[in-house]
Amino acid sequence: MTKKAFVIGHPIAHSRSPLIHGTWLAEYGIDGSYEAIDVAPAALPAFFDRLRNGEFAGGNVTIPHKEMVFDLCDSVDDLARTIGAVNTIAVRDGRIYGTNTDYLGFLGNLDAGAPHWSEGVTDALVIGAGGAARAVLVALRERLRGTVHVLNRTLANAQALVAEIDGPFEAHGFDAFPALAPRIGLVVNTSSVGMHGSRFDWLDMSLLAPGTLVTDIVYAPLVTPLLADARACGLPVVDGLGMLLHQAVPGFAAWFSVTPEVTPQLRARIEGSL
Ligand code: ATR
Repeated sequence: MTKKAFVIGHPIAHSRSPLIHGTWLAEYGIDGSYEAIDVAPAALPAFFDRLRNGEFAGGNVTIPHKEMVFDLCDSVDDLARTIGAVNTIAVRDGRIYGTNTDYLGFLGNLDAGAPHWSEGVTDALVIGAGGAARAVLVALRERLRGTVHVLNRTLANAQALVAEIDGPFEAHGFDAFPALAPRIGLVVNTSSVGMHGSRFDWLDMSLLAPGTLVTDIVYAPLVTPLLADARACGLPVVDGLGMLLHQAVPGFAAWFSVTPEVTPQLRARIEGSL
């Protein structure tokens, strides 16, 4: 029987997920499909009811549904609860299971782009305190020994975030950067700022120690102003495209029973579609 999976969102036309999963389905010769389905928020409960009939093995959930699907799943794992969002669901025996694969995507991207990245890094700096920052904090608390400093435009939002997630996290405003910079080994931008071609005027890369790794979860453009500035300062960088590719791996494995590889060919294909 053909196994089917989907990505739901509203709108959904921009999603790169069908291209990623379609490439893997062809590569591994799997009798399966992965389709983008536009589901408006009001239609979400009916869509979930339909899922229980077993037509689909599962799928991805994107904006604006990532929080709303919580209540529609029969079971949501601890990871998705901590991150506060479900981006991947699996249907088994008429039950819908929700999880979040963004944290694995973030770690998979760094592990592939900068092997041994966590060795020698104690403190990290995370810019932004929205939904994406939550997955990054959960990932970093697993791999780093030092403090993760969350810098945000609105200090109160950073404070609320670090109060909610257990871990060695500290909240700051942007003005804390110069004093923190020398001890930082990893900089992660989780805000959408790079999407619009903007940069942070307070982020003077020359204050960072040589070798500090800089990464941005924004992948369009591939080289955000933040990454361009880091490169200009001679700092190593990892772009955000790999996070999109690696977060797709656990879903594909759950629905189609094959753990797919993130190859340079897949990356080139998705990069060409941006
Ligand atoms: P997501 O859930 O995708 O992470 P979000 O919840 O809208 O998106 O969070 C966006 C983050 O980017 C927030 O930390 C936001 O800062 P505020 O808490 O001050 O709103 C940050 N952000 C967005 N636009 C920004 C800008 N122009 N300058 C600085 N920070 C910005």
